[in-house]
Amino acid sequence: MKFENILVEKKDSLAQITINRPKKLNALNKATIVELNAAFEDLEDDENIRAIILTGSGEKAFVAGADISEFADFSVDEGARLSKLGHHTLFDYVDNLSTPVIAAINGFALGGGLELAMSCHFRIASENAKMGLPEVSLGVIPGYGGTQRLPQLVGKGKAMEMIMTAGMISAEDAYRCGLVNHVTAQEELIPLAEKIASKITRNSSVAISAAIRAINAGFEDGINGFDVEIDEFGECFGTDDFVEGTSAFLDKRKPNF
Ligand code: COA
Repeated sequence: MKFENILVEKKDSLAQITINRPKKLNALNKATIVELNAAFEDLEDDENIRAIILTGSGEKAFVAGADISEFADFSVDEGARLSKLGHHTLFDYVDNLSTPVIAAINGFALGGGLELAMSCHFRIASENAKMGLPEVSLGVIPGYGGTQRLPQLVGKGKAMEMIMTAGMISAEDAYRCGLVNHVTAQEELIPLAEKIASKITRNSSVAISAAIRAINAGFEDGINGFDVEIDEFGECFGTDDFVEGTSAFLDKRKPNF
């Protein structure tokens, strides 16, 4: 697929996806969601890629939300379909990828933009970043997982306040409440994401994907995360990476996964 709204770069085992509609503050229109789905699918299938960084182009925005101009005249059914399709093709899809995805939040992450960042496995932010779920100011609620993932990350009370006030919080506040793991100067954001990603890519990608499944299982209704952990733990013992990791430790050498 030829991309018009995103850029995809690969460097060794690391890939970077940049949402590239800076004039619209990288707002997520339908075409961008389709392209993101295709790009994530390609990278998930690429055995050489062991971590993905997701960011926005320009210095102002990660993503300023779903593209309001596209849904302003939607009916009840169209609204529900928009949300369901988004969950299925992008937000849940990214959350459940076996390749780790780091959101590098370089500016505004609002509405669907913050929801996209929250679908990534974890987030880092630049000092100028501003985050919020302003949907109720538009007469709607977060529809791409925000009412579920924000309370999981920051706690119910903080999420209630952020959603009800429709306000934005600073990168520092986001760090304090656990929404982002690190805050850095804007020019250091991608280097920091790459540094963290390179630590990840040295480890067993097979074990990392098992860990993602076990962690995510704990947030799914009707599934016992501890049971999933037990199964995934057991499965690891049948992998080449387990043989390599444990042998390397005992041989006092670095593993070659
Ligand atoms: N959907 C569609 N277009 C958007 C957008 C969105 N979510 N966010 C920004 N844009 C567009 C603006 O319409 C503007 O386009 P134009 O130049 O053709 O008029 C352009 O991006 C630049 O935005 P602008 O509002 O002029 O920048 P600003 O610096 O004054 O304000 C924001 C920045 C982020 C505070 C403001 O753009 C905003 O509130 N955006 C909407 C955020 C939102 O409610 N998101 C949730 C959607 S569910």
